[in-house]
Amino acid sequence: MIKVIRTTDYAEMSRRGADLLAAQVLQKPNCVLGLATGSTPEGMYSLLVEKYQRGELDFSQVSSVNLDEYYGLSSDNDQSYRYFMNYHLFDHINIDKAKTHVPNGLAADADAECAAYDALVDELGGVDLQVLGIGNNGHIGFNEPDEVFTAATHVVELEESTIQANSRFFEDISQVPTKALTTGMRTIMQAKRVLLLAGASKKDIVDKALNGPITPQVPASLLQLHPNLTVIIAEN
Ligand code: PGA
Repeated sequence: MIKVIRTTDYAEMSRRGADLLAAQVLQKPNCVLGLATGSTPEGMYSLLVEKYQRGELDFSQVSSVNLDEYYGLSSDNDQSYRYFMNYHLFDHINIDKAKTHVPNGLAADADAECAAYDALVDELGGVDLQVLGIGNNGHIGFNEPDEVFTAATHVVELEESTIQANSRFFEDISQVPTKALTTGMRTIMQAKRVLLLAGASKKDIVDKALNGPITPQVPASLLQLHPNLTVIIAEN
């Protein structure tokens, strides 16, 4: 079932997202959260930090698996997704960092790292709630438009449009990594519940993903087949 929640703006989208995530942690204190980076979930993460600071949430038993990481960036590089997660969320709540997982962008054997990441997700029993943003090209995680959907965690060549979009965080576009490690569609589709957050600039691609044909050219379109998908869209 797909539930679409239309909110007035980014603040309201973030509030609804944070409430949903908080409910998950309250219902299952040892849940596995699938987490995403990017500008879209930043507001939601800061509201979760506020909830924690008010004593409303306890993350001590929560585990997390992040969707993706740039290949070639170390965890202390301020553009790495591990750094993002620590900075925006993990450093401010009582989650056990040993239970937080992000693919290792410096793995010497990237394919082995991807296989180990899938094994880890299996060991954790899969994801309870998967948070997603969406790229302008319809990517989720770094599953870029392709001829096929890829099930497993894999190494991906980033599209030019993705590199362009993400260059806003880097001093120079030449510094944006061209490859990434990303969770594949299996982990995402097997999550018990998926929460897709989309700001106003993503309205068209969300419409295409939810109402257009299911095709690997729009990776997020596969979510139409997910049994428990909530989409929160900011109208403005
Ligand atoms: P954004 O990125 O949240 O920074 O817009 C989303 C994505 O590319 O998946």
